[in-house]
Amino acid sequence: MVPLAGCLGATVSGFGPGLAVSDSGRNILLNAWREYLVLIIRDIPLNDPELLAFARLFGELDPPGPNPYGTVFLPDFPELNVISNVQEDGQPIGNLGAGEAVWHADMTYVEKPPTAGILHALEVPPHGGNTCFANMYAAYDALDDSLKARIEGRSAIHDAAHNSAGMLRKGYEEITDVTRTPGPRHPLVRTDPGTGRKALFLGRRPYSYIEGMDVAESETLLDEIWEHATRPEFAMTHVWQAGDTLIWHNLTVLHRRDAFGSSSRRIMHRAQIRGEEAIA
Ligand code: OGA
Ligand code: MN
Repeated sequence: MVPLAGCLGATVSGFGPGLAVSDSGRNILLNAWREYLVLIIRDIPLNDPELLAFARLFGELDPPGPNPYGTVFLPDFPELNVISNVQEDGQPIGNLGAGEAVWHADMTYVEKPPTAGILHALEVPPHGGNTCFANMYAAYDALDDSLKARIEGRSAIHDAAHNSAGMLRKGYEEITDVTRTPGPRHPLVRTDPGTGRKALFLGRRPYSYIEGMDVAESETLLDEIWEHATRPEFAMTHVWQAGDTLIWHNLTVLHRRDAFGSSSRRIMHRAQIRGEEAIA
């Protein structure tokens, strides 16, 4: 286990093929995931059953949310999602295309968002498509007292209508008034039920709205918190190689993805772990 230099992330090694681990190895992994928030395993190609078995070490699987095409990308493994820009026979084989995916946490538009996201790289572009992660414990700790006081006890609506590439999910309409954004309310600050530590819980910036404020006041405060939360000192960047697997703690980190050339191929298979916790 080698922690990265910044404020989150650790590289984990010592696995055999397929990432099978013992019970004690599993405990080490779970503790490291809670401490470092992003675990990076390099250069071990996995097939889909191996990826599913590895993901299950972190809890019960949570199937993918609805994608813009209304399809199941891997009918043989519906618990897995595909993140890709590749098209076959004119049909996308995965989600999110080749553009930027703005800072977000996954599926915070449900009452109990997934606790972990797991991405495994099958094909990566020669340039771009890096994924960045930001530590929301560190961001909360570094807030000044007046900003802490302004968000204390406040909740925001988390938009269910768009994905992190800004595409409308099937069955939703465009939003013009953010006070009517479809989606649940979550507190802006999450307290970890195990440790009592506080972290910013922001979901994603577009179409967010802080309840009980004028839209203008909500927009100003959200811009201020987001500007703070996504500062480079809270973040790290992963440059992918095929065979990499990353696991992140979805309730305490944000992530974003750089755009990449749409003529290159990027294929990731993805699992996530069901949340049991309404954010509080
Ligand atoms: C995701 C996601 C980013 C990436 O899978 O939730 O945001 O780098 N992916 O593909
Ligand atoms: Mn995501």
